[in-house]
Amino acid sequence: SWELEPSRPRVLLAASGSVAAIKFESLCRVFSEWAEVRAVATKSSLHFVDRSSLPSDVILYTDDDEWSTWTKIGDEVLHIELRKWADIMVIAPLSANTLSKPLSFQHRLTFH
Ligand SMILES: Cc1cc2nc3c(=O)[nH]c(=O)nc-3n(C[C@H](O)[C@H](O)[C@H](O)COP(=O)(O)O)c2cc1C
Repeated sequence: SWELEPSRPRVLLAASGSVAAIKFESLCRVFSEWAEVRAVATKSSLHFVDRSSLPSDVILYTDDDEWSTWTKIGDEVLHIELRKWADIMVIAPLSANTLSKPLSFQHRLTFH
């Protein structure tokens, strides 16, 4: 039809190393029903996520990609490009370790 599809929200879905990350594939599929999804995964979460099971249109980035795509000043930086791309970032599942990171940032803003 000539009607334009309304654009879908861009969601950056992030997995951290909780055992619940075995459900990350399902999360990607459910979000993909209404959003454009890109995924990031911590090294620990990769013990639980089966990369080959993710929907084929969901690109999964890891910390290694951050460094393999950057060699010199002036090159695009992956986390900045993803930040520009995304409308929102959702961290699910959230490990206690990853939870502590924004909390310590908040702590620094508040107390130092
Ligand atoms: C089998 C297994 C299950 C785990 N489940 C959890 C969990 O449910 N929640 C949690 O916070 N950490 C859990 N952990 C510990 C995290 O994987 C660990 O703290 C890791 O450093 C988290 O790293 P990340 O936050 O960079 O993903 C589990 C570890 C293992 C080996």
